[in-house]
Amino acid sequence: MKRYLSMINSALEACIPDGNFGEQKLIDSAAYSLRLPGKRVRPALTLAFCELCGGEAQKALPFACAVEMIHTYSLIHDDLPCMDDDDYRRGQASNHKVYGEDIALLAGDALQSMAYTTMLSDTAVKAVGAENAARAARVLAEKSGLLGMVGGQTIDIMSEGKEPNLDTLTVMDEKKTACLIEAACMMGCICAGADDAKVAAAERYAHAVGLAFQIVDDILDVTSTTDELGKPVGSDTDNEKSTYVALLGIDRCRRTVDELTAQAVDALAVFDCDTKELADFAVALANRKK
Ligand code: IPE
Ligand code: IPE
Ligand code: MG
Ligand code: MG
Ligand code: MG
Repeated sequence: MKRYLSMINSALEACIPDGNFGEQKLIDSAAYSLRLPGKRVRPALTLAFCELCGGEAQKALPFACAVEMIHTYSLIHDDLPCMDDDDYRRGQASNHKVYGEDIALLAGDALQSMAYTTMLSDTAVKAVGAENAARAARVLAEKSGLLGMVGGQTIDIMSEGKEPNLDTLTVMDEKKTACLIEAACMMGCICAGADDAKVAAAERYAHAVGLAFQIVDDILDVTSTTDELGKPVGSDTDNEKSTYVALLGIDRCRRTVDELTAQAVDALAVFDCDTKELADFAVALANRKK
């Protein structure tokens, strides 16, 4: 999946307005977070699922960038003092530590709009067809909004300081993290014009990968170091977050991650081509160190 990285980073760079285009401080703030070295997991999945369904990765690139813009906005807002209050992200000072809370909030807002202008540009729409573009945009809006990521972030905040409960935790992680990963994978299929069965299989793969992704994130918050992660460890404990780790302990969490990873691999059976790369990717994400 590393082969997609330079493509994604150049495309994101090209989306940053240069010249006298608007409020420079806002552009600098949005560009700052977008340029920091995130793992680019979600856009890579968009491109990989597009290719798996017989499409050209290049055509899905604006959609991949859109998912990464939504993700980056969510991280900027997640770090704000009114949310997780974290001062370090992707190995650098968090957006609000550099640009102030007000601009950081606005940069998140701007990245959200930029996601839609990027994937609904004339060229992006022409490349995949208007119907597919509209469907992909609707999936991203649904999965990142009230019933998806933002809803999950709300459950996360409202669960602070409370006894963790498995049902609530599962819904919280499905929404705050799995939903955007589902959008990433589904949008790749949609860009390639795939049928509903393939879009649904991509959603199942991403659901399992996404839930496992958040559980591993919670494990790393306990077991890793701030230097390695590029974000503060111990943040969940400090904020009295409800997490799988707090409820089940690390060993049971690891077993759950392995079960979810196996479910993700099973979901790939629907695709009538070589799915090894995506199966290996699910395993690599389950065993990641950052
Ligand atoms: C962090 O996501 C937020 C979660 C949903 C756990 P990533 O671990 O993908 O962060 P980056 O993009 O690599 O910084
Ligand atoms: C965040 O979960 C999920 C988002 C939607 C941003 P976390 O709060 O655990 O993410 P990190 O650990 O700060 O990256
Ligand atoms: Mg959070
Ligand atoms: Mg956080
Ligand atoms: Mg975390």
